Amino acid sequence: MDHLPIFINLRQKPALVVGGGDIALRKINLLLKAQAKVTCVSPHFCEGIKTLSLDSNVSLVNKRFEASDISNYSVIISATDDSKVNESVSKIAHENRIPVNVVDSPKLSSFIMPSIVDRSPVVIAVSSAGKAPVLARIIRAKLETVIPSSYGILAEIAGEYRQKVKDRFSKIKDRRAFWEATFSGVIAEKVFSGRIQEARADIEKQLIDAVEMSLGEVYLVGAGPGDPDLLTFKALRLIQQADVVLYDRLVSKGVMELVRRDSELIYVGKKGGSNESTRQIDINALLVELAKSGKRVCRLKGGDPFIFGRGGEEIESLSEHGIPFQVVPGITAASGCSSYAGIPLTHRDFSQSCRFVTAHLKNGTSNLPWQELVVEQQTIVFYMALSGASHICEQLIAHGMRKEMPIAIIEKGTMPEQKVYITTLADLPSLLLKEDINAPTLMIVGEVVSLNEKLSWYGN
Ligand SMILES: C[S@@+](CC[C@H](N)C(=O)[O-])C[C@H]1O[C@@H](n2cnc3c(N)ncnc32)[C@H](O)[C@@H]1O
Repeated sequence: MDHLPIFINLRQKPALVVGGGDIALRKINLLLKAQAKVTCVSPHFCEGIKTLSLDSNVSLVNKRFEASDISNYSVIISATDDSKVNESVSKIAHENRIPVNVVDSPKLSSFIMPSIVDRSPVVIAVSSAGKAPVLARIIRAKLETVIPSSYGILAEIAGEYRQKVKDRFSKIKDRRAFWEATFSGVIAEKVFSGRIQEARADIEKQLIDAVEMSLGEVYLVGAGPGDPDLLTFKALRLIQQADVVLYDRLVSKGVMELVRRDSELIYVGKKGGSNESTRQIDINALLVELAKSGKRVCRLKGGDPFIFGRGGEEIESLSEHGIPFQVVPGITAASGCSSYAGIPLTHRDFSQSCRFVTAHLKNGTSNLPWQELVVEQQTIVFYMALSGASHICEQLIAHGMRKEMPIAIIEKGTMPEQKVYITTLADLPSLLLKEDINAPTLMIVGEVVSLNEKLSWYGN
């Protein structure tokens, strides 16, 4: 190890920054986050530094750096593009035994500035000893994605209870078990989903009863349209911590590969070959049963759980049984497929509104409000449209939409197998006869579809 990682307390301590450009500005901002009192010396200052000087913790000294500028500072940072100034700052700081960092010059520095992930009071520092700062930044970015932004709040709450937990559990082993359960279970998830008071009440209860929190929880997670890169950070975190995952046909293989390896997988989609799905009432009951047995259950649904996904029904039943749950939105098929097909859903020249419509027709009959759909400058996105597509086109034409209106059918959108078929309302039935198109497919109707010719970027 070339450097010893330490965290210095700079609260209300004097810090000197030499330099007045954008890099100096970044360093000043960092020092201010650590609550230091900053003096900045430079013959000129960028606008950002001038603005910062309105803060009482920043004072500007408008002149060239001189040896006499260095006095009793706790740290010094030199951020100038003048190597002579940098060398001089470094030399005097070393002589005075003041920690000094010269930007991009490990040789002149007695300390280096790491890349940081700030979840104060939790702070993670990544350093490459000045050898590969870009690599350190990439590592930092990876860490940013897996550490929930509310870890800081969790740490603050833990700080509040530290003494009480010490008083309650005399053995280190018991304290550790308590905190491990708190940081990786229902209490932490309550903090992450903003239910801070409930989380505090749970900790209090644990401290009095010291009982196992036997109730599990349910995460209703949107898996997006297929491309696993479209998952949210939160979705990824929860699918990697769930004990059981209930999934259906629309969740792509790519997403399923990200699920925790040793979790139990339960398929609740259409049964082998048949068109019959697991009954919604049975899924609801299973979610309740699994959570009551103390499991962390992830209900993974294609797209967004609240868009044609019956997510509402599932959490209604959880709420009735007092089971904690959280809902993670996903990218809905309309957003994913339109983006990956190069079809903006709205456009100032072609469409000022967009409607998401389910084309799932009960008993082959349609009860769609056709008059409302045949409106100028509107895009219509039909979910579950494959079997009723010809009927939809007929009805749109019958209600006044022009026969040449462009229409797109997007098959397996956002996945490597994605296919985009572009035609017109009048020609759609013959396209369906000619091509072997399979679910899942999304249908987009509107002038915006013509933009696909210019804007298509994904796949073939
Ligand atoms: C029951 S709905 C669920 C919608 C989902 N909750 C969402 O927000 O995307 C299923 C329909 O979504 C559409 N769909 C979902 N994923 C798709 C994809 N990757 N490509 C095309 N259509 C998709 C299809 O129209 C499919 O019939």
